[in-house]
Amino acid sequence: MRFYLVGAGVIGRTHAAAIQKLQGEEEIEIKVADPNPQALAGFAELYPEAATYSDAQTMLAEAAKEDDIVIVGTPPFTHCELSKLGLESGRHVLCEKPLVMNRREAEELLEIAARNNRQLGCCSVRFLGLPKMEEVKKLLDSGVLGDIYKVTFVYRGQRSRPGVEYQPESKWFLDRSKSAGGIVMDWGPYDFSVINDLLKPVAVEVAAAWTSKPQTQVDPVDTVYDVEGHVGAMLKYHLNNANPVWVQYERASCTHGEAYYHVEIEGTLGAVRWSPYFETDQIVYTCDANGEIEEKVSEVVNQSEFGMMDHPVYFFYRKVKGLDSQAVVNDQAVFNFLCLQAIYDCAETGDPQHIQSELRNLIV
Ligand SMILES: NC(=O)c1ccc[n+]([C@@H]2O[C@H](COP(=O)([O-])OP(=O)(O)OC[C@H]3O[C@@H](n4cnc5c(N)ncnc54)[C@H](O)[C@@H]3O)[C@@H](O)[C@H]2O)c1
Repeated sequence: MRFYLVGAGVIGRTHAAAIQKLQGEEEIEIKVADPNPQALAGFAELYPEAATYSDAQTMLAEAAKEDDIVIVGTPPFTHCELSKLGLESGRHVLCEKPLVMNRREAEELLEIAARNNRQLGCCSVRFLGLPKMEEVKKLLDSGVLGDIYKVTFVYRGQRSRPGVEYQPESKWFLDRSKSAGGIVMDWGPYDFSVINDLLKPVAVEVAAAWTSKPQTQVDPVDTVYDVEGHVGAMLKYHLNNANPVWVQYERASCTHGEAYYHVEIEGTLGAVRWSPYFETDQIVYTCDANGEIEEKVSEVVNQSEFGMMDHPVYFFYRKVKGLDSQAVVNDQAVFNFLCLQAIYDCAETGDPQHIQSELRNLIV
């Protein structure tokens, strides 16, 4: 089986490590294209078996096989063109997050994937399928929380801007024309993959939203820096056969306020809080016992050889092979992206935004 990596940077190398773990399942070939010779050389040092190319077009020129996978791991402003190239070469495409820059690109890619009968996946699935997520889903499905009415999803970092505090060499993160946005487009794809996987909305309304760009004394001045570092939104999730759920969303990569996270689902009979990410594997379920709060804590650790960093490649590989998979592809990948876009649109216009799960019914 052949994997074609477009981009030999930080994430391209992470995906190559995940691909190597598939070697046990079958014979794997890795090819990689990057116009930056240093990035390519750095990649080749780690993965000497990989065939290297200075451009994606040349790499993808050979005839496609049914299960070929292209992985686009370049800055967001290139995602649409490179994914298009991959799909039109007759290959399935797994693209990094954010999937694209805007709605027009999202719809274009969806149409090209359908026309070529290929899968278009997004790498924002990293945190799906973890045993703790599945445990939270079980609690939701069991009905012990009663009627779900609110989700709190708050992650506030004080100094964690890509392009500044980490990966300072990748300045494109700070330039909206290259990155599509700030913290909304950097971590939002993971957040909305998690929230949408849990709630499975048929429609989402962004009722109110704001963004801000807190300043620091080390803000870069020699580069374009026009992305937000802090965002908040109230979203109304419309579910199939259930009451709507309000989602209180907040994310910061830069705030002078307190750093904390709080992820919790509240229902009329109980609540559950946990970390979908790195902080803890504990799940805290709270309910009433004779008028008092009762708390039950469980810990669910991921024992699989495929960790969260491997998930995008592992899930997409399974999808292409027709196996059970948590991959997010096609309409769902675009729906998740449009939730992010809608937060910006609401913040910029002040008008509520609607996203339907059936794209043909999109209310603009
Ligand atoms: N760095 C992370 O921790 C991380 C994590 C998850 C997702 N991502 C996502 O991965 C993508 C890339 O991020 P990164 O951190 O790897 O960036 P990076 O700057 O480390 O690497 C990007 C690479 O893409 C190459 N590139 C640019 N245009 C190209 C083209 N037309 N053809 C081939 N290669 C091209 C660049 O030369 C560079 O080597 C982004 O969408 C980002 O959001 C990054």
